[in-house]
Amino acid sequence: GGRSDQLIIDAGQKGFGATTCSSCGMVYSADNPEDLFQHSHFHLKLLGALKFVGWKKERVVAQFWDGKMILVLPDDPKHAVKKAEDVRRVADDELGFQQVALSRPSQSKTYLFISTDRTVVGCVVAEPIRQAYRVVQQAVVAEASPDDFMERHRAWCCSTVPEPALCGISRIWVFGPARRQGVATRMLDTVRSTFVFGSHLTTEELAFSDPTPDGKLFATKYCDT
Ligand code: ACO
Ligand code: ZN
Repeated sequence: GGRSDQLIIDAGQKGFGATTCSSCGMVYSADNPEDLFQHSHFHLKLLGALKFVGWKKERVVAQFWDGKMILVLPDDPKHAVKKAEDVRRVADDELGFQQVALSRPSQSKTYLFISTDRTVVGCVVAEPIRQAYRVVQQAVVAEASPDDFMERHRAWCCSTVPEPALCGISRIWVFGPARRQGVATRMLDTVRSTFVFGSHLTTEELAFSDPTPDGKLFATKYCDT
């Protein structure tokens, strides 16, 4: 009858049985052995990279009710540098960056946000810079467009006048399940107060390199407030 036909049609549809893993964020089909295998592989690799067991010496730069931030410098012990690299690789995979190399590896500072359940949920790579080209936001002129259309279709371009900046944010990343909880905001607040010893950087002294759409939305909000 109609009922079993309906089932057959549904089963043939793309995305039937799609499951989103709440810890690694991967979308997969629980009915598909290949998908199941790929998920378990990705899941273990990701959570392994983000697992933080704790070190004898940690450079704790901030403490919060839901976690803490540590700073890893290029000359730190191997295990610390490796963890920073593992987390950067996770972030780069999501950002679509091909190479893990940093533009100024010897001067880069990696900040990790570690949740109370010992997982790295955030990462910022900050590098000293001298100047940056400010991103200029321009609304695209579109006829009879509702405001939300304008919000979503702004063109971003860079001014041609270099301005002084002190701290380049080459990467900022927050683990999917931990987003919109102020992790990125608190990471940048901490970067501003610890990046240059003895001084507190203003938001103007930060420069974001190649922001993604998420990054732009976040940076616009962060730099406005
Ligand atoms: N859409 C709209 N507004 C946003 C978004 C978003 N996706 N993300 C942040 N905001 C705004 C909101 O106003 C938010 O406040 P609210 O939650 O009270 O509304 C405010 O920014 C503060 O957000 P946080 O919670 O501090 O940001 P979060 O911890 O979620 O991290 C980040 C933001 C880093 C962009 C995260 O979404 C992410 O890792 N995305 C994937 C990687 C990425 O694109 N990184 C930026 C690359 S650019 C670069 O690396 C230089
Ligand atoms: Zn998973």
